Amino acid sequence: MIKVRPINRNDLPLLDSVDEDWPEATTVQYWSQPAFAGMVAEDKDGIKGFILGQIVSGEAEIIQITVINEARNQGIGSALLDEFLKNHATLGCYLDVMEGNEEAIRLYQRAGFRVTGRRQGYYRLDGERRDALLMRLDTRETGD
Ligand SMILES: CC(C)(COP(=O)(O)OP(=O)(O)OC[C@H]1O[C@@H](n2cnc3c(N)ncnc32)[C@H](O)[C@@H]1OP(=O)(O)O)[C@@H](O)C(=O)NCCC(=O)NCCS
Repeated sequence: MIKVRPINRNDLPLLDSVDEDWPEATTVQYWSQPAFAGMVAEDKDGIKGFILGQIVSGEAEIIQITVINEARNQGIGSALLDEFLKNHATLGCYLDVMEGNEEAIRLYQRAGFRVTGRRQGYYRLDGERRDALLMRLDTRETGD
């Protein structure tokens, strides 16, 4: 059974087995900042996914969310995102995502994120420039 829990220091060396773009040195840099927050999803065999972010005054920014290939499409990404938002996004949450990353865009849209802007040529993929979509979720209670 999958459990989502706050990340701890011992998890950092394990994250690159989930996503090789997140070696320990990179996560330690984020970890050392007071605004850092993160969660991991694990079962009895180990970590299956993680979400990393930064929180400033109730505004959360998602830096990365990844689920290992073999464990995708089982709700783990949504569970990580929901738990992160519940714990950290008091006012709202924002992120950027590469245009064309449909799995991630659908995940965010299902959680209520909307596209609020675009950064032209922000990402590079296979030598080509790709735009970043800026997405935002407002979690404030409006009282309406
Ligand atoms: C984006 C990402 C984190 C999503 O993780 P995930 O665990 O597959 O997400 P979920 O399982 O919650 O949702 C994915 C799909 O599975 C479906 N799903 C959820 N639970 C399910 C279940 N029990 N059985 C079958 N399908 C299910 C969802 O409805 C969703 O379908 P949709 O994409 O057609 O809307 C994952 O694709 C990933 O790691 N991508 C690479 C990294 C990346 O691009 N990160 C984003 C950077 S901005």
